[in-house]
Amino acid sequence: MAQRVADLPTPALIVDLDRVDANLHRGQAYAHAQGVDLRPHTKTHKSPSFARAQVAAGAAGICVAKLGEAEMMADAGLDDVFMPNTVIGTDKAARAVALAQRVRFAIGVDHPAQVAQLEAAAEGATTPLAVMVEVDVGARRGGADPGEVAELLRRVREAAGLRARGVYAYEGFTYPARDRDDLIARHDAAQRALLAVANATRAWIDGDGRRGGAPVVSLGSTPSLLAAVPLRAGITEMRPGTFAFNDLQQARWASATGRWEDGLEHAAAHVLASVVSVQGDAASSPAGAGELERQGRERPWRAVLDAGSKALTSDLAVGHEGHGLLVDHGLTVARLSEEHGVVEGPGFERLRVGDKVRVLMNHVCPVVNLFSVMYLVRGDEVVEAVAVSGRGLLV
Ligand SMILES: Cc1ncc(COP(=O)(O)O)c(C=O)c1O
Repeated sequence: MAQRVADLPTPALIVDLDRVDANLHRGQAYAHAQGVDLRPHTKTHKSPSFARAQVAAGAAGICVAKLGEAEMMADAGLDDVFMPNTVIGTDKAARAVALAQRVRFAIGVDHPAQVAQLEAAAEGATTPLAVMVEVDVGARRGGADPGEVAELLRRVREAAGLRARGVYAYEGFTYPARDRDDLIARHDAAQRALLAVANATRAWIDGDGRRGGAPVVSLGSTPSLLAAVPLRAGITEMRPGTFAFNDLQQARWASATGRWEDGLEHAAAHVLASVVSVQGDAASSPAGAGELERQGRERPWRAVLDAGSKALTSDLAVGHEGHGLLVDHGLTVARLSEEHGVVEGPGFERLRVGDKVRVLMNHVCPVVNLFSVMYLVRGDEVVEAVAVSGRGLLV
């Protein structure tokens, strides 16, 4: 007999397959409408089976965050991989070059020292290594200053074993946008900054053989996809990742063109947790609640879940208090310690010891990285348990 979600030992990571399916198709529809390639970032699910589903749905290839993830995905048959991230170290440079001999692989750079190491590693390699230069368009994380990109591209282009495929940026500063208009304005600023660099440096870009030598101009991010942000001509690729599963932080963008409740409908992954204790109700006091009141003691009302920061992470969500939403009860995880999530305030008394609750996490990607298994579900049934193959592949 099929296993039921309610019978799973907790805390458990559950993933609703119908919702993932809808999310993947929503992503493809957006990319199609905007005339760009969708190259989903697989850091969210870290799983070759979902990566394959994304390619089957129409993705041009996948992204990974780490060489270990790239190797794992290549082993699993994913043959077009971009790592929008930089590495340093001769061993890692050699692994990047080795990947390019096995699959269609590209890696990011934003510093001449990285280029020098990749160039040395690629000497004598049969297939050149494709390189994308990361541009800082305002996120102040990785990324070269726009004024330094031409020189980086020139060095890549002149290195015998490297090819300059294009430029990319990550527009993380769109996340705190106030509303859709603000999101569009922020995203447009990122697009204009990246396009200005792409246009000014075209002479130094080999481009993409598959696109007749046209440069790849690539941006990331899920909010822009969910809120259907318009893209300017010249952007060729989007790399959202979180949209496959979504989370509490993305709910407001998922509902940007509809209702908040619709945003929650797009959330495919939840942490299933048990209510292990309720404190402050009549049942929790051996002497009865009345006794506490007679003693004049404040009733320490709270419900306690068996999911703490080691299941939900401590990440906060823009626009939300607390550490996760009990979607079926409208309650918030107010406090966390490693193994405990505490729900307090009005409404907690709706929870009973032994209840199993679905917690929509603030930020799904690091949550997935905490679980070795995800349970794929349809409705109340568990369809399959799959390994989170990329879990902990940080090197
Ligand atoms: C370089 C890069 N590209 C793409 C993405 C995907 O963006 P999102 O998490 O908004 O889906 C990320 C996310 O961190 C990223 O760092």
